[in-house]
Amino acid sequence: MELLKNRCKVQVVLGARSAGDIIMADEFNRAGIDLLVTTNDASLGLQGLVTDGLKKVMAGQKVDMVYACGPSAMLTPVAQICRNAGVPCQLSWEAMMRCGMGLCGSCELEEGSGEPAGWLVCLDGPVARHD
Ligand code: FES
Repeated sequence: MELLKNRCKVQVVLGARSAGDIIMADEFNRAGIDLLVTTNDASLGLQGLVTDGLKKVMAGQKVDMVYACGPSAMLTPVAQICRNAGVPCQLSWEAMMRCGMGLCGSCELEEGSGEPAGWLVCLDGPVARHD
């Protein structure tokens, strides 16, 4: 909402397996936010992954920043797409946490996530900024 208050153009890309899995579309529409929906099964919006939607948006307009949340299997390619396009991004990583204070290692991201080795969601994140 702060972006809208500051008159920034906001584009949301929502992706899910099927139309019934899409959440918050009504809220985004009521707020007047441009929304692109992708579904794996083509039951709503663009057929494909949310990263396909992101690529479509980035191909059609100048993008200043990408904010993303979701599973690691999605955030890693989002980071790659942004890196390739030279667009900064902020990724909100999810992980199971046991101690929440950097002791147990349960929230360490897997190798290949794009974050530095040993990156802990509880201490280093949960948001990683890539400029
Ligand atoms: S939750 Fe234990 S190290 Fe992060």
